[in-house]
Amino acid sequence: MSKGKHESYWIETSNFPNYPKLKEDTETEVCVVGGGIAGITTAYLLTQKGFRVTLIEALKLGHGTTGYTTAKLTAQHDLIYNQLISKFGEETAKIHYDAAMETIDFVKETEKELQADFQLSTEAAYVFTDEQKNVRQIEKEWEAYQKLGIPGSLEEELPLPVSSKRAVKMDNQAQFHPLLFLQAMTEYISSHGGRIYEDTRAETIDEGEPATVKLKDGGSVTAKHVVIATHFPFYDFKGAYFARLDVARSYIVSGKSPLRYPGGMFISMDSPSRSVRSAKDKDGETLWLIGGDGHRTGKGKEMKEHYSNLRNWGRSQFEMDEFDYNWSSEDFMSLDSLFYIGRITKRTQNLYVATAFRKWGMSGGITAAKEITSLIADGKSLYNDIYDPARSDGVKGITTLAKNMVEVGTELVSGKLEKTNKSIDDLEQGEAGKIRHNGKLVGVYKDNEGTVHKVDTTCTHMGCEVHWNDAETTWDCPCHGSRFRASGEVIEGPAVKDLKKID
Ligand code: FES
Repeated sequence: MSKGKHESYWIETSNFPNYPKLKEDTETEVCVVGGGIAGITTAYLLTQKGFRVTLIEALKLGHGTTGYTTAKLTAQHDLIYNQLISKFGEETAKIHYDAAMETIDFVKETEKELQADFQLSTEAAYVFTDEQKNVRQIEKEWEAYQKLGIPGSLEEELPLPVSSKRAVKMDNQAQFHPLLFLQAMTEYISSHGGRIYEDTRAETIDEGEPATVKLKDGGSVTAKHVVIATHFPFYDFKGAYFARLDVARSYIVSGKSPLRYPGGMFISMDSPSRSVRSAKDKDGETLWLIGGDGHRTGKGKEMKEHYSNLRNWGRSQFEMDEFDYNWSSEDFMSLDSLFYIGRITKRTQNLYVATAFRKWGMSGGITAAKEITSLIADGKSLYNDIYDPARSDGVKGITTLAKNMVEVGTELVSGKLEKTNKSIDDLEQGEAGKIRHNGKLVGVYKDNEGTVHKVDTTCTHMGCEVHWNDAETTWDCPCHGSRFRASGEVIEGPAVKDLKKID
């Protein structure tokens, strides 16, 4: 989804076969909606356990958030353990750490079992700060590591040529190529009786036992269990997820540096944040992946500026000169920092959801797959229900929830009042803008061939006003992160319907 020389490095270097579109009514034991890391790993584990699984993906497998990640496989989810201990106690914090560490073992074992190469390497992970005001927080995190017995250390300097006042290091973490991992599991699923469909968007669910997933272009999947692994749950009104998830966008650029990569994965806690890891390109040369510049979706500067900030940082810190790839992704945060994994509501026994992995979807997605598989196969949680989406969000959570509702309300009203004096003739090729027509806002994009695409800029999820994303030529919604092509087709939910085209 980028306009760079190449899009995501992961997508460019993976090779999924094409799967058909489902248009008929069909029946299965488990329907998994979403072909990213959470969905495919769930389908893989359930297939291994002998369940009949049907996996449907709205676009192409691995082309959602999983294809646009930094692919750090780590239990170091920014600074979280001190916070988890104070909010929930040591036991919950330890369960969270152990769950994430098990995902590293899981990927290692799967690589062996499927005789594949996921470009997996063991690395130390660092969170660092170069600001004196943040030093104490890093130290507190290290104290939390010591309480929980997490192997690591407190450092002053980084092995990278980046200035740092304090860093907390976690040992024995990993990085890998996420799509090679998904590809191998996908092959296993199809060769063991699982059915996979692409270009098959779920629109709604008729609840019941069995439940029926209705497809946008006709057809349906009736299943005993339905797993919603669509990043932001497409069926979100039931658990009020639209009010319980915060959405942020961040960016990655990648290229070469004349410096030797010292090993390790790094993330700063300062603002703007910066993240660094390495990967091997097709010729075995080291790529430096520079990430960060995150902001709430729809609230950032022009997208191109974020990429350029990261490139400038790469140039100044690592003498990087050539940038081959750039991509971005959206992440969802729960109100209390723990993932939402499990039954969509307390009363709904056969609909499961997996979301709110913050920026840690590799370990979060695999944890979700393991938990949901255990709920379906054995009826019990592997993690003492700490991720149960039906848990109370706590006092802070409720305040945030109210704030989210107010922000959406404000966006609903202010978006409609947006001022514009533009006319279609003002737009250059490749440019988009909003015009007023009969008092209503119309989003207009003039493509590179000069064709004009006009859409109603009202998001089809809950009615907020979408904004133009110039780097990826999409219409993005600031309220819950839905994204639409320039011509209006939905790319990412929670919206399931396209923007209305205007004649
Ligand atoms: Fe919810 Fe747009 S209103 S994503």
